[in-house]
Amino acid sequence: MNTGNKILSLCLVLAAFFGMSPEAFAEKRRAEVYYGTAHIDGIKDDAYDKSDKIEVNFMLDGDDNNSKAVCWCLWNDYGLSIFAQVTESSPDSISATLSNRDSFEVFIDENNSRGQSADSDDAQYRVGYDGQKSCGMSASGTDSFLGTSVVTETGYNVEMYIPFKKNNPGAETVMGFEAQVNDSINGKRIGVAKWCDETGDSWQKTVNYGEILLKMGEKSPGDNILVALNGKRMLFDEVEPINIDGRTMVPLRKIFEELNAEIAWYDSTKTVYAIRNGVLIELAIGSDTYRRNGEILTMDVPAVIKDGNTLVPLRVIAESFGAEVSWEDEKSLVKIDCK
Ligand code: BGC
Repeated sequence: MNTGNKILSLCLVLAAFFGMSPEAFAEKRRAEVYYGTAHIDGIKDDAYDKSDKIEVNFMLDGDDNNSKAVCWCLWNDYGLSIFAQVTESSPDSISATLSNRDSFEVFIDENNSRGQSADSDDAQYRVGYDGQKSCGMSASGTDSFLGTSVVTETGYNVEMYIPFKKNNPGAETVMGFEAQVNDSINGKRIGVAKWCDETGDSWQKTVNYGEILLKMGEKSPGDNILVALNGKRMLFDEVEPINIDGRTMVPLRKIFEELNAEIAWYDSTKTVYAIRNGVLIELAIGSDTYRRNGEILTMDVPAVIKDGNTLVPLRVIAESFGAEVSWEDEKSLVKIDCK
């Protein structure tokens, strides 16, 4: 038995001794997280409600008047989305030390090794109330994850998307997870709220983290579409993929860029030219036909304009460039393999 397991067993014995059954104890420190893909914009997607609410309200420092949070997670084949609502009355970002600013952080121990020190799959991610990202343990830099914040009437929301270090964890996987709220005033941290870890050591050991259990739920009509290119989630900035008549439509510029096509735009004819590995695609906006190396082909769903962006059927475009495209319905997942 490793040290982590010994400590866990001791906790279970103590929990039983003090009247809480081991099941209730395990229940308290475990949240179910459902499959889903969130738009990372600081606004809560409905899909989060499938998952258990995680209450970040154990006051390690400070008292009940200090900032606390509730958060929800969603997982997909490539990463974890986290949405948090943090209470905050006096936003502060004075300190040079980012954990001493008003901020929300999460810790992930992907293989749930519950160690006394951090190993290579353990990582810490922080987003300030002002949206500033920072990270620690073995997180690979602030560009390795998405993080954004929105100031609200009662504080601020934080939303993050953290790619897994190992893709496709699969349903029923258990990961170590912890969340923390830092509350500061005049550059000093006066409150720290936690989910399960009742120590200040989450940033250097994983043994006291809570756990998330990954679940595969029922598909719902409003599920967002997940697009993955060569084993990585494709992230969209302004306009997310939509479904029209069973076809996934994506912003034209984005898909061409992601596929490393060179693009030229001719405004007079409203035509886009994209070239990649000897394949030239010509597509006039508003038309349901396009040309592939001069040959006229028909799109089953024509390009549409949404919020000023042209959306095109993803499969048609990707396959025209020789990519393989597959669709996993229960996950609303489009996988593109493009060499
Ligand atoms: C802790 C700080 C620590 C920091 C390291 C935070 O979660 O609360 O005490 O210095 O992580 O990044």
